Amino acid sequence: MNSIVLVNKENKIDDSYLDTISLVEVEEETFLVEKEAALAYLKLKEYLLNKGITICISSAYRSIERQQEIYDEFVVRYGKEYADKTVASVGCSEHHTALAIDIDIMVDGNFLIGNHELMKHEDIYLEIHKHLSKFGFILRYMKGKESITGYPYEPWHIRYVGDVADYIYKESLTLEEYLLKKD
Ligand code: DAL
Ligand code: ZN
Repeated sequence: MNSIVLVNKENKIDDSYLDTISLVEVEEETFLVEKEAALAYLKLKEYLLNKGITICISSAYRSIERQQEIYDEFVVRYGKEYADKTVASVGCSEHHTALAIDIDIMVDGNFLIGNHELMKHEDIYLEIHKHLSKFGFILRYMKGKESITGYPYEPWHIRYVGDVADYIYKESLTLEEYLLKKD
C-alpha cells in the first residue's frame, strides 16, 4: 500500500490502485477505509474520546459513482459555485484512495450536519489537528495553502500518510510540498 499516493486535480486515481489495498468496514459497517488507515483512525478516535472529543466518520472511501452523487447533492444543497469549488471531479478525489476520512464532531450530544455547521466549531477541529500526526494522519486541505492543494480549507478532511505524518505536520507542509521536497 502506498500511503503517500497523490490524488489531486492534476493526478487522477490510478485504475489499478484498488487492487493494491484491503478495504475494511468501519463504524457500524457504514464506511470503507483502507485497513492500516482504519486501525489508525480507531486509535485516534479513542484518544480523542479520552480528551472529551467525540468524532465519527461522515465520508471515507468513495467510488467514482459516489463522488458524482456527492457533487450532485452539493449542487442541490449549496449551489453549483460552491460544489465546483469544494468537491473534486470524479477520479480526482482523494476519497477514491480510501486513505482520506471526513470527520464529524459531536457538539451538545449531536453530530453536526453540513459544512457550514462544522465550520462554526473550528476550535474543536483545531484541537483535533494537534493530535493527527501521532496516528499517521495529516490535515490535507490547510488554511493558506489553497493555491497548492487546489481546495479551500477543510478542517474535517484528514488523510492517512503513515510514518511521514510527523514530519509533514512539524514542517506545516501539504502532501504536494512534501512529495516535491522528498525527490
Ligand atoms: N472535498 C474534497 C476535495 C473531495 O471532494 O475529495
Ligand atoms: Zn473529504
